[in-house]
Amino acid sequence: MPIILAIESSCDETSVAICYNGKITANVIANQTIHENYGGVIPELASRVHQQNIVPAVQQALTIAKVNKNELNAVAFTRGPGLLGALLVGVSFAKSFALALDLPLIAVNHMQAHILAHFIDDPMPKFPFLCLTVSGGHTQIVLVKDYFDMEIVGETLDDAAGEAFDKTAKILDLPYPGGPLIDKYAKDGNPLAYKFPEPQIQGLNYSFSGFKTAILYFIRDNKIKNPQFVEENLADICASVQYSIVNILLNKLKKAAKQYSIKEIAIAGGVSANSGLRIALLATQDTLGWKVYIPAFQYCTDNAGMIAIAGYHKYLAGEFVTQEISPLARMNF
Ligand code: KG4
Ligand code: ZN
Repeated sequence: MPIILAIESSCDETSVAICYNGKITANVIANQTIHENYGGVIPELASRVHQQNIVPAVQQALTIAKVNKNELNAVAFTRGPGLLGALLVGVSFAKSFALALDLPLIAVNHMQAHILAHFIDDPMPKFPFLCLTVSGGHTQIVLVKDYFDMEIVGETLDDAAGEAFDKTAKILDLPYPGGPLIDKYAKDGNPLAYKFPEPQIQGLNYSFSGFKTAILYFIRDNKIKNPQFVEENLADICASVQYSIVNILLNKLKKAAKQYSIKEIAIAGGVSANSGLRIALLATQDTLGWKVYIPAFQYCTDNAGMIAIAGYHKYLAGEFVTQEISPLARMNF
């Protein structure tokens, strides 16, 4: 009956969760609103706010889960990938906490954890499955053969899907992170109002940098003709951009599903919160016979619940690390 405390601090969310024998009984997320005015996450500021948030978040998680720190069996933490300074706060805290309580340490890969969020609640995908992991920093199609046996079969060659959303939002003068706002405005717009080119990339890889530039020029040219273009057509612009990004994402996913003859399909990462993507993916259950897995909203964007469930499976496998462990800004599976 392991009780695991998990820490996530790879970007701009300080999160602490408790996993009680495979069930997540607390998932505290302290958002950092300080970055809204800067159009992106400022690494130095993120580290400082993690430092302020981490102890209260741990106390809150223990209280919510009704667990005393002396009952814990292990401490799991995000080792990478992410912002080094931000990771350092979580890793240093986890190490000190584990040292003080004489607990084993479990290092978790953030991108694997996004995928393993599917093992928090039912229904859970069956191995092997394909997972489209779409976040602010990554866009990957992953062949998941087992909990920690994963292979990236396609990925972005430049920008991530989340960046395509956030950079479009910036062009439209919307605050960071723009993805959820584009999603919100898109609900009232016509997705076919404007057409954007689909990148022509070989195989299962993606590219979003040309797409972003196309939007930049499209807005610039239309603003020359009508300075109020964005204000007057915001919903249609957002709906059309979202429709295009979702199409790009799904077309490669369909190709991968065909190539690997797999119909168990999951999505993960912050962009999997996008309603357009969720609806389009669900539609494939009827059109393509896929069995689709979409995480609950609180487990899509960065959270420690996913680190806790990954930590739980590493605990069962006896995979621990020593106090010499350090964070990694870049980290492979
Ligand atoms: O996984 P995540 O929380 O952090 C990273 O590891 O990057 O993903 C954050 C990304 C941001 O780019 C954000 O704009 C995007 O996920 N995002 C969304 C939505 N919610 C979050 N993008 C589109 N629609 C959403 N509803
Ligand atoms: Zn993430």
